[in-house]
Amino acid sequence: MGTREEAKHMIVVTGATGGLGGATVEHLLERMPADQIGVSVRDATKARHFTDRGVRVRQGSYEDPAALRDSFADAEQVLLVSGNDPAADMAGLHRNAVEAAVEAGARRILYTSQHAAVPGNPYRPSDIHTATEAILAESGVAWTALRNGAYGPLDQVLGPWQQTGEIAQPADGPTPYTDRDDVAEATAALLARGHSLDGAVTLTAPTAVTFDDLAKIASELTGRTVKRIVVDDEQWVADQIAIGVPEQAARLMLTWYQAARAGYFAEAGPLLAELLGREPRTAADRLAAHLAT
Ligand SMILES: NC(=O)c1ccc[n+]([C@@H]2O[C@H](COP(=O)([O-])OP(=O)(O)OC[C@H]3O[C@@H](n4cnc5c(N)ncnc54)[C@H](OP(=O)(O)O)[C@@H]3O)[C@@H](O)[C@H]2O)c1
Repeated sequence: MGTREEAKHMIVVTGATGGLGGATVEHLLERMPADQIGVSVRDATKARHFTDRGVRVRQGSYEDPAALRDSFADAEQVLLVSGNDPAADMAGLHRNAVEAAVEAGARRILYTSQHAAVPGNPYRPSDIHTATEAILAESGVAWTALRNGAYGPLDQVLGPWQQTGEIAQPADGPTPYTDRDDVAEATAALLARGHSLDGAVTLTAPTAVTFDDLAKIASELTGRTVKRIVVDDEQWVADQIAIGVPEQAARLMLTWYQAARAGYFAEAGPLLAELLGREPRTAADRLAAHLAT
């Protein structure tokens, strides 16, 4: 067995200088030797902590197919972390990455998609994810789309409830708020076990909750009454603009509430718990952890 043979079993992770990709590499390092792990990052100087631990660090950005091919060399599996630039043609950039992975000889591409990334979902990034899943389906290699549950900071969707005692946000709907590190750990488990799942799979916390539920949970955790107040959509956008949020960003976020209230995020899945071998962190756990910081 030469080193070349071993190198072919590499796992290469993009977006490893970001939250989800970085945490996934950390969990991979707990499961396999560092010399079987590579990262493809826009700025290699931000990945010195990985270089120091024996991870192969190569420069790659979704705008640069040649650099991507080089950074994906010897990869058996590539984890493609979705980009998040609202001004870019993200699906086109993801296409560059998928094509580079195929040309570099990867046998499977895993992609960080989004819970309920289905046609018709009003949450705008869904279009990028459904387009990228279609690109993967046409790529000719095995692929897995990890439809990750909402793991952004809870304050981002609940607003400044700790200061106001109110969750005063647009009408919402049941959502399995998910912990990003749980998603990273499950992704690493999937990558490390070497045989994967085909097509789109859902990685969410097991229970969907509403803002009414979260107001009750927040009340219990804080010992004071946290009220849920439904704010009219246009009033909410105007309020956001008044506190300095660009209108485009507020309207993008509004599409998330619209998707939630239309029930797009209502269905939670059991796979995250299965991959973790334990119960994923719940919204209540995340709120409690947030209050403890
Ligand atoms: N499920 C959810 O709730 C949820 C929430 C937020 C975001 N997301 C999606 O999931 C992705 C990962 O989430 P995250 O929390 O890890 O976000 P993040 O910390 O912003 O990480 C995004 C990563 O993508 C990299 N990237 C962006 N554009 C790129 C490009 N053109 N070429 C190469 N790399 C590029 C970034 O590189 P740099 O480090 O160089 O900036 C960064 O490492 C996000 O980008 C977004 O698409 C999902």
